[in-house]
Amino acid sequence: MDMFVIRGGTPLCGSVAVSGAKNAALPIMSAALAIDGPSRLLNVPDLADVRTLTSLLGTLGVQCRHEPDGALELRPSEASSCVADYELVRRMRAGVCVLGPLLARYGYACVSLPGGCNIGHRPIDLHLKGLRALGARIRVERGYVIAESERLIGTDIYLGGPFGSTVTGTCNVLSAAVLAEGVTNIEAAACEPEVVDLGRFLISAGARITGLGTPQIRIEGVPRLTGCKHTVIPDRIEAATLLIAGAITRGRISLTGADPSHLTAVLEVLREIGVGIRVDGTTIHADGVLPLRAVECVALPYPAVPTDMQAQLTALLATAEGISLVTDKVFPDRFMHISELARMGARVRREGASAIVGGPTRLSGASVMASDLRASAALVLAALAAEGPSVVRRIYHLDRGYERFEAKLRSLGADVQRVEDSPANVPPELMEVASPPSEPAMPGPHWSGAATRRLTPQG
Ligand code: EPZ
Repeated sequence: MDMFVIRGGTPLCGSVAVSGAKNAALPIMSAALAIDGPSRLLNVPDLADVRTLTSLLGTLGVQCRHEPDGALELRPSEASSCVADYELVRRMRAGVCVLGPLLARYGYACVSLPGGCNIGHRPIDLHLKGLRALGARIRVERGYVIAESERLIGTDIYLGGPFGSTVTGTCNVLSAAVLAEGVTNIEAAACEPEVVDLGRFLISAGARITGLGTPQIRIEGVPRLTGCKHTVIPDRIEAATLLIAGAITRGRISLTGADPSHLTAVLEVLREIGVGIRVDGTTIHADGVLPLRAVECVALPYPAVPTDMQAQLTALLATAEGISLVTDKVFPDRFMHISELARMGARVRREGASAIVGGPTRLSGASVMASDLRASAALVLAALAAEGPSVVRRIYHLDRGYERFEAKLRSLGADVQRVEDSPANVPPELMEVASPPSEPAMPGPHWSGAATRRLTPQG
């Protein structure tokens, strides 16, 4: 297992390019199951989740091949199995995106329920409700969703839930309804750019869809879809994370290849915090050398601040002047990063679905543990700003969603090393802790008088 050793304190400077969006690429790749003939995807990020989905699609009859020019070629053939196995789906919840396309194409899908998740309860009841409305018979047996239907029939479907719509649920219903008989109207559809990108891919493949990017999507079913070429949108979450890397280190960075129209709310919050933001076409400049101040922000479905940026904003606000309030109304339990940030000196307290963040804090390097993808990004950001070295463990979470993250940070001047997680690779500063001042001196036969003690990482 790998970990990052980060020596913080260097203001990041320079220019870096945004990769393709993971959360667009995954449902688009899954939709290839419903398409006849090969498709070619450009701008697919090279990530652990993409590789996991590649393996899953392989078991379902879609061969995925990375071309030398960076494109991903998807070649569907007759599936020998319609079973999405637990071993693959548990590693990546987006595996559930194969449910709708499999059902539409083969009239049968058996997909493992993804199981537990560190960002809170993540049911898929809305996915199932939508597919049932299209006429599927669905049951859950031994941890698997089994969906069957001779013919899907278009209908009106309401996808609103207690926390808004559902992103991958909308993708599942959309990818199934494109091959249904008649017209489907999705009400309370997710408006996220990743859903729009899936819709555009399906339109290129011959689907008839209107209303993408609005809560009302209309789909007129077609008998078949054919392979096409599509370029995946830039990753708005990676983009915003890199902008915060610049701001939290009080540096100045430029982000190229972004789509600023997908980042309106995040850029607004960063401006409010005091980050100098300038947009020039697809390049976003962020200047973090100005004083940063506290804000209140709420993560909500698109176009608001995304829940996937909540942890990273919390890390930034720990370094800003004043008391901030960060609320997550999409995943109200997504706060595992708080205790790890506290290990770096951040003053953060959870109150229900909110984090109260006191600042400014001069963060200090520490050994911390990543609990999920965006929490890991927040810890890396905090480590970049911290005084002294930090160790961020379990970065396999980070590898799921950030392409060549350490290389990109290094290109901006960060000191980040990927090393094997072993005590030998922990910087000596983190193995030594000062003796507590109150500890009485205990002269005796073994007293060495040393001011520091060496501890194992578990100590
Ligand atoms: C997608 O997850 C993203 N994943 C998540 O990104 C992102 O955090 C989330 O949307 C919200 O934007 C992918 O796109 C692969 P939801 P998804 O269904 O689709 C509740 C990352 O870090 N809900 O939109 O699983 C749910 O509990 C990941 O890249 C139901 O109640 O999220 C949540 O409160 C993490 N019933 C809210 O809706 C359902 O059937 C939104 O969830 C489905 C969801």
